[in-house]
Amino acid sequence: MNEQIEAIQTEALAQISAAADERSLDDARVAVLGKKGTLTLVAAGIKDVPKEDKAAVGQLLNAARTAITAALEEKQVALREIADRAALAGIDVTLPARSQHVGSLHPLTIIRDEAIRILRRMGFALAEGPEIEDEFHCFDALNTPADHPARNEKDTFYFDSGKLLRTHTSSVQVRTMESQAPPIRIIAPGSAYRRDEIDATHLSVFNQLEGLYVGTDVSLPDLKGTLEYFLRELFGTNTEVRFRPHFFPFTEPSFEIDVKLTVKGQAPKWIEIAGCGMVDPAVFEAINKSRKDNAFDPEKVTGFAFGMGLDRLAMIRWGIKDIRLLIENDARFLKQFA
Ligand code: DAH
Repeated sequence: MNEQIEAIQTEALAQISAAADERSLDDARVAVLGKKGTLTLVAAGIKDVPKEDKAAVGQLLNAARTAITAALEEKQVALREIADRAALAGIDVTLPARSQHVGSLHPLTIIRDEAIRILRRMGFALAEGPEIEDEFHCFDALNTPADHPARNEKDTFYFDSGKLLRTHTSSVQVRTMESQAPPIRIIAPGSAYRRDEIDATHLSVFNQLEGLYVGTDVSLPDLKGTLEYFLRELFGTNTEVRFRPHFFPFTEPSFEIDVKLTVKGQAPKWIEIAGCGMVDPAVFEAINKSRKDNAFDPEKVTGFAFGMGLDRLAMIRWGIKDIRLLIENDARFLKQFA
């Protein structure tokens, strides 16, 4: 029996050492130590060994099991190491890690959100309207007659149907007044379209922010106070703001608003950023006609409106010299706002 045990041990150790992978190592383990393994079967025969030999045979069995188990463990560690090394082959763990590109908001989004936040604090709610408009909402209701230059085909994108791409967000004023009664206090950010020659300060698609406040006793000082406060919140408390008389068909009186821009090393410059004025009674009358009621009785309600270029605001805020940078999506430009 002793020889049998020794033979089994020698054979098992040889098999273990020859195992090329974990699977054949496991086969070797089962063949010797499994339920029907060679050593297990021999061990079962110990009950037939004469009493006086039992201790010696038992010791030999234990020694064989210990040696085989140790060999199995050792071989398993070695095989794992080989497998790990193979998995890493061709990978240079000393290379620097790949950098993560973190996205950021577009400057127009940043300035729009900030403008909305300031105006909402002052009680203005968001409103919207379609970008494909009709002439009534874009022009007629806004007291802009058929022969007005803005309605020229050279300036406006018309569809064959007679519809058009809105030339300003002022059409949202009309849509809001058609569906709501005073008091109204809304802002409407959105795109506007014009057939402009594209250059450093003009695009055929640009972004505006419209505002409208209609109620009883809304006056010119309200308009001035609101917009001055807004611009100082946006550009800093020392920002100088100027209201310059102008003409818009839908407001009377009308103004253009300039902000004084100071760039280091340059003489300060006034930059026009918005149009505004007191809503012309003719607009209220057109709305009443469309609504078929007198909800906007020009004898009772007054209002102010404004429209500003969001692209302009962004250009002033960050000193951007060319408006085209805002639509080119050049990562080197956009990264600066992260
Ligand atoms: N819609 C005008 C434009 O695009 C801007 C404007 C001027 C809007 C005066 C207004 C306003 O609401 O009252 O040039």
